[in-house]
Amino acid sequence: MKDDLPHLARLPVPLITNVMGSTAEEFAELVEAVGARDEIAAVELNVSCPNVKTGLDIGAVPAELERVVAAVRPRSSKPIVVKLTPNTSDVAACARAAEAAGADAVSLINTLRAMAMHPSGDGPWLGARTGGLSGPAIRAVALAQVAAVAAAIDLPIVGMGGVATGNHARDLREAGATLVAVGTESFRDPAAGARIAGELVVVENACKTAQDRQLA
Ligand SMILES: Cc1cc2nc3c(=O)[nH]c(=O)nc-3n(C[C@H](O)[C@H](O)[C@H](O)COP(=O)(O)O)c2cc1C
Repeated sequence: MKDDLPHLARLPVPLITNVMGSTAEEFAELVEAVGARDEIAAVELNVSCPNVKTGLDIGAVPAELERVVAAVRPRSSKPIVVKLTPNTSDVAACARAAEAAGADAVSLINTLRAMAMHPSGDGPWLGARTGGLSGPAIRAVALAQVAAVAAAIDLPIVGMGGVATGNHARDLREAGATLVAVGTESFRDPAAGARIAGELVVVENACKTAQDRQLA
């Protein structure tokens, strides 16, 4: 917060800060500290951290997720966005748990647990053995999970996962996302967010014109 917030706060956009803890109390402390800063518009909880006892993501079990969000909720009046983990058997149940505990919005999907083997035959390539898969390979999973969550809750949804064009963003909006976020594509093209937003306007206008013609 000391090093990054001063220059981030000068950007002409609202700041949503993503925090991660490994216990409900850690999340609550972080949300309280981050939420107290005027520069920050909303706080997003990354619940994809593994639970030390079960090894499952902390947000993978609805009752556990509800406990974390309920612990965090009274500690800030800022909007709380729960970034759901895709590494769960029932993402819709997790979304309902977040809604029940007082979340203002949910976002999804985070990365999928995945593995790469070292080309030299030395076993797992990543230090933690597994890592998070993102980008084009997860786009279809993102669409299915956003649609499942949209059918289960009334909260706004920030959809993401493999978005690289306006058409991809439109597909997520059609599946039920209110907003769309761009992750991996921004590493390849730092201006991707603005480009995709422009493409989305063109694609959505074209769809609307086609629908209006059909009605007429
Ligand atoms: C290098 C990298 C770092 C990430 N760090 C975070 C993080 O700190 N917190 C979080 O909630 N998600 C994190 N993510 C997940 C992304 O925000 C996003 O949910 C995911 O990558 C899917 O979107 P994409 O395919 O557009 O990248 C990270 C992803 C990548 C590739």
